[in-house]
This record gives sequence, structure tokens and C-alpha cells, in this order.
Amino acid sequence: MREPDDAASGQVQSPDDQAAAPDRDEAGRERADYGAYSLVLVASRLPVDRTESSAGEASWRPSPGGLVTALEPVMRSSGGVWIGWSGDAGPAPGPFKAGGLHLVGIGLSPEEIRDYYEGFCNATLWPLYHDVIAPPRFHRRWWDSYVAVNRYFAEEADRQAGPGATVWVHDYQLQLVPQMLRERRGDVRIGYFTHIPFPGYEIFAQLPWRRRIVEGLLGADLLGFQRRSDAANFLRACRRAAGLMTRGATVRVLASGPGEGGYSLRVPASRAERGDRAGLPAGMREIRAAAFPISVDSAELGEIVQRAEVRARAKEIRQVLGQPDLVLLGVDRLDYTKGILHRLRAYGELLSEGRLGSRVVLVQVASPTRERVEAYRALRDEVELTVSRINGLYGELGYPPIHYLHQSYPREEMAALYLAADVMLVTPLRDGMNLVAKEYVACRDDEAGALVLSEFAGAADELGGAFLVNPHDIEGLKDAIVRAATITPQEARRRMRAMRRRVRDHDVAHWAASFRDMLARDTSARDPLAGDPLAGDPLAGDPLAGDPLAGDPLAGDPLAGDPLADEVLAGDSPARGSLAGDPQNPWPGGGSGLSRGHLGSRSPSSQNGGERHGLHGQAPQQVPDGPRQGQAGRGPGDRRSLPRGRGPGRADRRRDPPGR
Ligand code: G6P
Repeated sequence: MREPDDAASGQVQSPDDQAAAPDRDEAGRERADYGAYSLVLVASRLPVDRTESSAGEASWRPSPGGLVTALEPVMRSSGGVWIGWSGDAGPAPGPFKAGGLHLVGIGLSPEEIRDYYEGFCNATLWPLYHDVIAPPRFHRRWWDSYVAVNRYFAEEADRQAGPGATVWVHDYQLQLVPQMLRERRGDVRIGYFTHIPFPGYEIFAQLPWRRRIVEGLLGADLLGFQRRSDAANFLRACRRAAGLMTRGATVRVLASGPGEGGYSLRVPASRAERGDRAGLPAGMREIRAAAFPISVDSAELGEIVQRAEVRARAKEIRQVLGQPDLVLLGVDRLDYTKGILHRLRAYGELLSEGRLGSRVVLVQVASPTRERVEAYRALRDEVELTVSRINGLYGELGYPPIHYLHQSYPREEMAALYLAADVMLVTPLRDGMNLVAKEYVACRDDEAGALVLSEFAGAADELGGAFLVNPHDIEGLKDAIVRAATITPQEARRRMRAMRRRVRDHDVAHWAASFRDMLARDTSARDPLAGDPLAGDPLAGDPLAGDPLAGDPLAGDPLAGDPLADEVLAGDSPARGSLAGDPQNPWPGGGSGLSRGHLGSRSPSSQNGGERHGLHGQAPQQVPDGPRQGQAGRGPGDRRSLPRGRGPGRADRRRDPPGR
């Protein structure tokens, strides 16, 4: 049994508890061989990536993506252990601590990175689950690697989990882990959360291994999704791909004991075997699928934007950009799901039509991601070509209308950018949630600014104060940008205030507490059809929800008319903070307020690109040399040298944007 690195509370059973429990489990395995943690988080990546300099020196830097952004504050205050890949090829690093987190690495070979990570995860599942925006590729060798790597994670979770532990598995890379772990351990409570969409069955059905995926997920006790429609899609997949019966938001399977495993789920043969509403027959497991919209650490972001240096940096950014009248901002991983090209197209046409005036700039941060996957390379080429075309057509000396930054920045710099932006453009073609939208709102404590948000992002369900758009509708997108850029300060305040309330009250701690609360429940005694006290509308109580000004045909319930809808929403648990201070519960009950700034500095990574630059660096498009004096007056005579001051966080500007 591995001892935890420090005495994180509640991780080890008391001697009395241990005396009461039999020495061996049903499989004859000694319980003393179990791990020591009462909370085990299993995610594809560790919160830090390992990189090696050309001199062979290893260092750690924060990992990219919204998943890590959301989970880091949750885990920081929990004392649990985080299992994940270190982002590099090679053997697993031994257990270590970074930024106050207990970390256990999974090692992947170069072949596994190619077949599991770049292949099955990011060239099969990612495009498939994002409504086939790019064509998914199906290769049996990739699938075999996915199975093998999922097994590594399940085995490590088994090693780390203490008796009766809670194991929380995350995202599409690890869908087989719940059942693989269940086959080893009957005593643990397993939760699974998918951060990306779960597709409709007609799309999911393309996957040759669809049944295996459904069965893998059903090893969990609770399956969390971003939107109700995702949970409903999963329940449909249970019915259609695995022949299971669902009742409301639940599905029942026959529990297979350790060792019986394989992959085949034992489906109840009859209604009688499945049990009735009143109870769960012996040997039967009940699994629940529900929506828990993920969020950001609003308190921490609120604290960052209060800092004098961040506010000063926001002003400096506008100055560096030439004091434009209008600053538009896009912040994304450079991913084809994010709708960057649609956004650029709309912006280019608006420039050509002169609808935004002459003193407008777009800052587009596009952080490097999955650069060895072909679709990402092609996208980068196309984005960079488009940016160059627009700058070539509409720019002038010292004035590129687009500042394109293929880099990652520390969160302080991102917060300053959010403060500096008049209009935030979040236009994904498909997105599980999109935390950038919520970060922008959380940072705008001045209640100014406007958000243009795709209705295909999960965040659209909650942020009724945004200008909701269909990014495929270029004319509609252009109109929404113009409208967002020209609202009165009063309207901006009214919209922003409502969105800020939502993001403040439903922050990442609330999300984690809601999930934990439902996972901790023993569903076996419940009537799955009885009204779920957690079910409700995430927009209830939001004065802007359904606001006709939002003009959003989808703002209502995307599952309107779907009898499952109310059964699969759980994100509005009243449980927020209810377990704060409960020593039996390993989860944080409230906002951690902890800084993300202690994870070390970044360096270029083999996975995420090479050289990175700051706002003043040699990015593909240069920042202008000085403040613009308006279109007519611009010329060599207007040029000033760039400010030399160092803005907050620029020493570590290779850090990823906070949440994607
Ligand atoms: C999204 C996914 C995460 C993923 C992240 C970064 O946020 O939901 O699971 O980790 O992107 O992608 P990467 O491939 O670099 O891990």
C-alpha cells in the first residue's frame, strides 16, 4: 500500500474500520493491497506537462485545455491524487507533488501517442463527438491501443484507490476505464464526466466499437455530461447500441463480479430481472446519466482582475494596439471545432463593408494544440492564410486589423486581454461547454463588454445575456457582431450583470459539489421515476433567460418535448457547499480561491509546438508600432516605439490560455 505524500485528511481508514472489514475482497485479494487515497481523479493528462530542453533538462509546464483549468482548483483543496499522462513519450514519472497536488504519471510509448492519443482520441473520437466537423477515421490498430492505454489508467486507479474510495474519471480519452476498474473493484464509487459533447445516435452509430464504449462507461455509478441533450444522447446509445432499457435518467445492468469481466455487460433478460420501481434487485447496478454544466473559478478570476498590475496591463494592451475604438477578441485552442475561420470570414466582410468603422482591431489568440494531427495542421495553414489575406487587404503600415497570436499566455495576461476587449467572440461550431465565454464574463467586474456566443456551445444554455449566433450563418454572425459592438452601456451592463450572476453562483466548486453529491447517493433505494429533486432548469431564476433581446431560438430547452429532459439535468443541485468541512467527504465544498500560478514555467513542447512569443514578440502578425491616430492620419509620422514595460505574467507568457 502506498502511503500518501502527506497527511491529506480522510484518506485512510481508521484502525476500527479496518478491523470491521474482512481482510480480503470477493476476489480473494487482500484489502491491505488497496491504495491509500479516498479520492482518485483519472484524466488523460496531468495538470502539468513534462518537457525536455535541447540540453536534456526536464521541466514541467501547465497542460492545455479546459479540463485541466476546471479541475485544478477542485483538486487543489481535496487532498486526492491525480492520475494522468505527462504529455511526453517515455516511462511514467514516479508519484510526485506539484503545486500542492499529488500526481501519478502514466507513461506512453511513441507508438501509443500515435495510435491512442493522436489516432483514436483525436482523429476518431474528437471529430465524431463534434458532429463530424472533420471526417473521423476508424482504424483497428488505433482501437487496440485505446483499449491498452485505458487499461493502464484503470490499473493505476486500482492501485491508488483506498477501500470504498471515490474515483472520478474524465473525458473521451478514458471511456473504458469505468468498467475496467469496476471489474477489479466492487467497493469503489465511480463517477465519469465527459467534457465534450456526446453525439446523437445516428453519428455515434458510425463507431465500429460503439457497444464497447457504452459498456465501458456503464462501469460508473454516475455519468455526467455538459448538456441535457448529451445525457439524453447517451441514454439513447444505451438502448440502441447495447439493447438496454432505460427508465428516466437511469439504466440498470447486472453487476459482474471481479474476474468475470471481459467486456460483455450482463443485460437483464426481462423486466422481472431488472426489478421494479420500488427497489434494486440483488446483483443489479443502477447507473444514472445527468447534466452538470462545468464552470470556472469565478472567485479566483475576480481576484486576478482586481490587481492593479492587471488593470494597468489592460490599458497598456489597448495602447499597444493603437487606442482603437473597438477591440474584438477571440481566444481558442487552434481547433477546427472552434469556428475560427467562420469568425475571420465575418470579420473580413465587415471590414470590407466598413460596418465597424475604421478604428477596429481583432486580437485572435490561437494556442497550439495537437500539432501532429493532420486536420490541425491543415486548419493552421488555412487560418494563417486567411489572416494574412485580411491583413494584406485591409491593413496599413503599422495597422494590421488582425493580431494573430499562435501562442499561449499566463492567466494574468489573459485576464488583462479580457478586460481590454469590447466584444468577445466565441463562435464554435460545436463545443461541450466553452470556458472562455465564462472566463470573459467572470473577468468583467466593470459590467462592460459584450459576448457573441455560438448556440452550439454548452455555455449558450446558461448565458442568456450573450448575443447568440449560428456561426454557419455568416450574415447573422456579422449582424450580431455589429449589434454587440454598438449597444449602449446600459444594455451592456444589464446583459453582463445577469451573466455574471450566473457564473458567480454556478462556479466550478458548485459543479464539483453537485456531481459529488449525486455520486455519493445510494441510488439503489430510490425510485428512478420519482421526481428528482435536483432536476430543474439551469436557467431558472435567471432574469435574462428567454430574453427576447437575446434573440436566440435555441435559448430555451434544446430538448423541449423530450420526456427525458427533466430527468437528465442535475447541474443545479442545491448542494453547493453543503459538505464543506465534512471530514468524511474528500471534495471541496466551496471555491478554492487558490492561485494557479505555482506550477512552474512553460517551455516549448513536442506536442504543442515550438517557439512561442509574447504580445511583443515575433508572432506571425506584428503588433503595430504605435498608437493609431485614426485611419486618415496614420502614416510613418505617427509611429511611436512600442512600450517596453513588462505586463503582469509576461515572464511566463507561454502558459496556456485559461480554459478551452
Ligand atoms: C479539451 C478536452 C480535454 C483535453 C484538452 C486539451 O479541453 O476536453 O480532454 O485535454 O482539450 O487537449 P489535449 O489533446 O492537448 O489534451
